[in-house]
Amino acid sequence: MTGWKIVIGADDAGYEYKEILRGLLEADPRVARVVDVGVDADGHTPYPRVAAEAASMVADGRTDRALLVCGTGLGMAIAANKVRGVRAVTAHDAYSVARSVLSNNAQVLALGARVIGPELAKTLVDEWLGLTFDPRSASSAKVELIDQMDAEESA
Ligand code: RB5
Repeated sequence: MTGWKIVIGADDAGYEYKEILRGLLEADPRVARVVDVGVDADGHTPYPRVAAEAASMVADGRTDRALLVCGTGLGMAIAANKVRGVRAVTAHDAYSVARSVLSNNAQVLALGARVIGPELAKTLVDEWLGLTFDPRSASSAKVELIDQMDAEESA
């Protein structure tokens, strides 16, 4: 592995956390590149647009993963999941973050700045960077079923 390429994005509710988490990603040797799709300090782009831009970068392979922050993490995940091939979750505890990658092969983690504190957010992201899906695991067939749903929808 040569290092994660990660797109990070937030709406105005998640902006401050995005800045903190971008700094963490940029300082982490496991991360090769960070792409920031906003918002900036006075930006008000609605979360579905930010999520769509970030998720499309995952779907077409420009980045491996996306880290998204809004008020709850919910809207970002809902919107990112509209992009074919993307598996996005909201997770605010270590177990769920781990299973989102190990069992669900989720490429997108959405966090809620109004739900958890910045230190927990940093801890979860640090954990997330160390996780990879095992395609030979028992979970693999189930993730393939999700991929099939995407394929059927586009047929
Ligand atoms: C604010 O727009 C809030 O709704 C948003 O940040 C997010 O929590 C949505 O899920």
